[in-house]
Amino acid sequence: MTPITTVRGIGVAVTRANIDTDVLIRINRLIEHSPDELGAYLFEPWRFLPDGQPDAEFPLNQPRHEGAVVLVAGENFGCGSSREHAVWALMSFGFRVVIAPSFGDIFRQNSFQNGLLTIALPADEIDRIATELDEAGEPMMTVDLEGQVVTTPAGRIVEFEIDPGRRRALLDGLDDIGVTLMYAPRIDVFEQADVQRRPWNYRTTDEERAMQLLILPGDGVGSEVMDGVKRVLAWLREDRDLDVDVHEEPFGMAAWRAHGTLMTDETWERIQSADAILFGAIGSPEYAQIPPEQRRVDWLLEMRRSLDLYENLRPVRAIDALLDASTLRPEVVRGVDMVIVRELAGGVYFGQPRGVETLPDGTRRAVNTIVYTTREVERIARSAFELARTRQGRVCSVDKANVLEFGAFWRETVQGIGDNEYPDVEISHMYVDNCAMQLVRDPRQFDVIVTENLFGDILSDCAAMVTGSLGMLPSASRGPVKADGRRAALYEPVHGSAPDIAGQGVANPIAAILSLAMCLRYTLDRVNDAVLVEQAVERAIVAGARTRDLTQPGSTFLSTSEMTDRVIAELHP
Ligand code: IPM
Ligand code: MN
Repeated sequence: MTPITTVRGIGVAVTRANIDTDVLIRINRLIEHSPDELGAYLFEPWRFLPDGQPDAEFPLNQPRHEGAVVLVAGENFGCGSSREHAVWALMSFGFRVVIAPSFGDIFRQNSFQNGLLTIALPADEIDRIATELDEAGEPMMTVDLEGQVVTTPAGRIVEFEIDPGRRRALLDGLDDIGVTLMYAPRIDVFEQADVQRRPWNYRTTDEERAMQLLILPGDGVGSEVMDGVKRVLAWLREDRDLDVDVHEEPFGMAAWRAHGTLMTDETWERIQSADAILFGAIGSPEYAQIPPEQRRVDWLLEMRRSLDLYENLRPVRAIDALLDASTLRPEVVRGVDMVIVRELAGGVYFGQPRGVETLPDGTRRAVNTIVYTTREVERIARSAFELARTRQGRVCSVDKANVLEFGAFWRETVQGIGDNEYPDVEISHMYVDNCAMQLVRDPRQFDVIVTENLFGDILSDCAAMVTGSLGMLPSASRGPVKADGRRAALYEPVHGSAPDIAGQGVANPIAAILSLAMCLRYTLDRVNDAVLVEQAVERAIVAGARTRDLTQPGSTFLSTSEMTDRVIAELHP
């Protein structure tokens, strides 16, 4: 790319607002001509009359502006489609600089990439320069990138701002790749250190890197149910050729006991780079032993936040064989099949300001804040609509629009995405209090429920009772799609650490095993194996296998590992 330092030459003004890239260069010209020929067709619809003759009125055709190198333009210049050809056409015509009050974002990015300098100046300044270009004896201008000043045709000096990185790159004649290559030695040094720190990211076999699963059993019943998960995983690797790298790290109190800290650097690195985390549970009365400053961070919430796990799927399905385990009447529960899509990376869980303060009179005041941006609501709405398309095609969005501003905003935003992008999906809205009632009154009415973080937390516990036990409910939490096409993901049973029954070997491993099935489906793309595991669970239940949570008090029941045995015994293709 040719460096730009100072550009001196003829200027011309075309100050109409919102000139889009289709006016700059028509689409058919892109196909017919190479980039360096496009100048002949710049502003084609305006430069030429219907008979093909140049329009003498158009500024670019006037002799006093012949050979112009600076274009003075109106606001939002280069809006519209993202074609680079608009920039090529301007450059092939001879322009090196465009000055306007504002630019289309993509146009501006493309200009930078191709060495066309764009400068933003206030609209009234643009008007003044345009008048000077018309009135000056010779419409000459100078643009000095080094000094960041424009000299107008009347000789006035006007300063301009430009991003320092872009300025440097234009002065040196570098595009994005050129700029990156400037840092090549530093990138090498970083990479060499990183290979030592995170060797698992630099595996150099010819095959594609195997998926990295990280098991974090955690607190309470976490390690008991994750034993079941490990055994099912072992079966899949043995009998179904599942090719994954599995690594386990102590988490929670177990990490404290092993390392004297709740989170080692190595564990955190592995969390950041894992393709999927299979998580047990967090929470234990034993945390009271840990000094408060070390206890401060809730590492589950920290994982959700740092991996941006915004999409939390909590399926709730009634199993016929368990209808009598529910506290609801069988005819209310039979056939229930819904997914709660809970927003998991925003809202009151993470909103600022938050905290407890002591007031001058010695009493205290506690604050938490529900915060959502358009982007956050839109992306979780899309998750719900996409999911509904694979199911019954119905989304119920839950809010508190009658009282809270964020509620009305949530409702509007979800409705907007539905109208614009998913007209085929049926959408309804419900206040959260009503939804809580409907979940126990008539849970069958729901297909996909989408809601904010705290409402989703509460409603999913409520919906869980439909199945008879929290011990049956899996969940998946996923982040945005990354550059390599993968999504960070964490799979965990909904039930939590259940300290009251921890260590007794009576916890139900099914929620954790079904969470592994969700991992097979969503991260590992092994839908057949997911179905295999789900069916094995169902067969074991139908055959009468019950852990304590699924039985009446006083009846006999299976231990955690016996229940796992029964599921594994049912695992056959
Ligand atoms: C859940 C849990 C968590 C939550 C806790 C353990 C922080 O209740 O996943 O539903 O409130 O999100
Ligand atoms: Mn919860």
